[in-house]
Amino acid sequence: MFKDRVAVITGSQRGIGRAIAESLAEQGCNIVISDINGEGAQKTADEIAAKYGVKAIGVSCNVTKKEEQTALANAAVEKLGRLDIWVNNAGAIRDDLLMRMSEADWDLVQTVNLKGVFFGIQAATKVMMKAKYGKIVNISSVAGLVGSAGQANYASAKAGVIAITKTAAREYASRNITVNAVCPGFILTDMTSNLPDKWKEEVIKQTPLPKRGEPADIAKAVRFLASSDADFITGVILRVDGGMVIGL
Ligand code: NAI
Repeated sequence: MFKDRVAVITGSQRGIGRAIAESLAEQGCNIVISDINGEGAQKTADEIAAKYGVKAIGVSCNVTKKEEQTALANAAVEKLGRLDIWVNNAGAIRDDLLMRMSEADWDLVQTVNLKGVFFGIQAATKVMMKAKYGKIVNISSVAGLVGSAGQANYASAKAGVIAITKTAAREYASRNITVNAVCPGFILTDMTSNLPDKWKEEVIKQTPLPKRGEPADIAKAVRFLASSDADFITGVILRVDGGMVIGL
């Protein structure tokens, strides 16, 4: 399905981003693993290249820096020849109740989760507009749909990701670039590993499909939106949450 295509996934040295990279590589896609942790990115890229027999490179990129995202898009073209798929996946949390939340924690979470997507779309589309082809997938969250106590910064940023997805879908459709978003529910990764067990059990109990989601569940949805099967789909916000927030 993805033979000779090239995908960039931000924040993909581990977790959901890595699962997305693996699911694309499994179908022949060449991969750029990028992360603020450059060493981790290189290691993951080497492992993916060895496991799936595709080309994979690791690039250090802090998504909050515009020039680093531009360099990331250029690295895909210079080292792998093209750029077809871009997944804005990098994310960070700094949870606290709104009343106590510091300005620094507000700014960091907004900057990584929302400004990072803005810079990512700009960097990717600069290349994709010339090719008149592109698939952009943004990772939002159910928190962006229904809010999340203790995550005012994160939920607001993820709601912003939904709005920028719909806006970019409208702006780039005439260039044959689709822009969609996936909203994961609760997925066990390093990001969620510190949450109290009681909270995790409660969330699973309240989810219509009573199980924990896996990074691979998100990866399969992203792979669909990045594929030619989704050529007529843009501006969609796809929940992958076991039915956690049905109706939204
Ligand atoms: P994770 O913490 O395991 O992975 C996030 C990756 O992003 C890490 O490798 C980290 O180094 C990287 N990163 C952090 N700041 C960065 C920056 N400024 N520039 C570049 N890379 C940076 O988290 P996970 O769970 O894999 O999350 C992936 C995405 O999925 C995030 O956008 C997250 O908000 C979203 N998500 C996760 C959910 C979950 O339950 N795990 C639920 C809903 C959304």
